[in-house]
Amino acid sequence: MTTHRIAVIPGDGIGKEVVPAGVSALQATADRFGLSLEFDEFDFASADYWQKHGTMLPSDWEQTLRQYDAIFFGAVGWPSVVPDHVSLWGSLLQFRRTFDQYVNLRPCRLMPGVTSPLAGREPGDIDFLVVRENTEGEYSSVGGRIFEGTPRETVLQETVMTRVGVDRVLRFAFEQAARRPKKHLTSATKSNGISISMPYWDERVAEMGSKFPDVRLDKFHIDALAAQFVLHPEWFDVVVASNLFGDILSDLGPACTGTLGIAPSANIDPSREAPSLFEPVHGSAPDIAGQGIANPIGQIWCGSMMLDHLGHPEAAAHLLGAIEAVLAHGPAGAPLTPDLHGTGTTAELGHAITECVRER
Ligand code: NAD
Ligand code: IPM
Ligand code: MN
Repeated sequence: MTTHRIAVIPGDGIGKEVVPAGVSALQATADRFGLSLEFDEFDFASADYWQKHGTMLPSDWEQTLRQYDAIFFGAVGWPSVVPDHVSLWGSLLQFRRTFDQYVNLRPCRLMPGVTSPLAGREPGDIDFLVVRENTEGEYSSVGGRIFEGTPRETVLQETVMTRVGVDRVLRFAFEQAARRPKKHLTSATKSNGISISMPYWDERVAEMGSKFPDVRLDKFHIDALAAQFVLHPEWFDVVVASNLFGDILSDLGPACTGTLGIAPSANIDPSREAPSLFEPVHGSAPDIAGQGIANPIGQIWCGSMMLDHLGHPEAAAHLLGAIEAVLAHGPAGAPLTPDLHGTGTTAELGHAITECVRER
């Protein structure tokens, strides 16, 4: 039996609360399917580590993490201790870039038993995949400040788009769309206002589209697209976006499906040269951290995506099925967390899903 070695990094805030629920559900799924998962937990990429060491990561973090088959990550960021741009550029954004995890896959689905804040939407009405470019674009370290402290103070931060970087994420998105029944890809642009990088993005989308004649392609400016996510979420199948636009859409999408707390993401290096990283879309949620009421489903769904990535689609589907089965009982029948209008705790909801994995 192959053993998959998983690096577990809880991080900050609710990351430390939802990761144990994710690990339990994964372990139960592994037991059920005769898989061997070995978990090693690390305390770096957290504010606690920063307070002890003055850095977010140990100097050998890359060698350490490269030995693993995947990284199961909670959330990082605790702005009362370390500024967000320092903690994030010192950890998560390093992981994504160093390991060339250029695809950030963020599924968005209205689950049975969950009420959408959008009137009249039923499970099945909203089911799309955001494919977010994850290593370049608006998230660049090219820029700086000059004339600091003077009236001429000037701040510049460049968007970087490379042909390789844009084409590889577009190809991935087209391939995803080509495999789905609707075969529909929507590109997020803003080529009316952002007059250099976004027309380039559109050109590359059109060029890649010519290689996928079976995929129906359309594009929306990001402002109009945000509105359509709310007005007509059923229009979308696969949505491909630059780093920043994809970030925003992947919080908006889950909000339309009831709560950010259930949304997973997979930071993938499709070449598999480096480990991929699985983390919920949400952050450390300082407003609810420490109360034990964070929704663990985003983290557990990440576990399902990780199993799929590791080559175990049946185990992945079983775990996702357990999430759906527990949600389908609704606030009356399952210990749902407050974001799902229940009174359950992280541990209770996590336990219900783990039990369901064992019993289904
Ligand atoms: P956030 O996602 O942490 O929280 C936004 C809102 O959603 C909050 O009201 C929070 O209570 C709620 N929420 C989030 N996850 C939830 C869950 N599982 N269950 C129930 N409610 C949940 O975003 P923020 O407040 O902008 O960021 C907080 C910190 O997290 C910052 O330091 C930020 O930089 C960081 N962050 C990290 C990641 C990551 O590690 N991938 C992602 C986003 C934000
Ligand atoms: C996410 C987060 C990160 C991002 C932050 C914390 C840097 O919002 O994973 O969506 O913007 O990528
Ligand atoms: Mn985000």
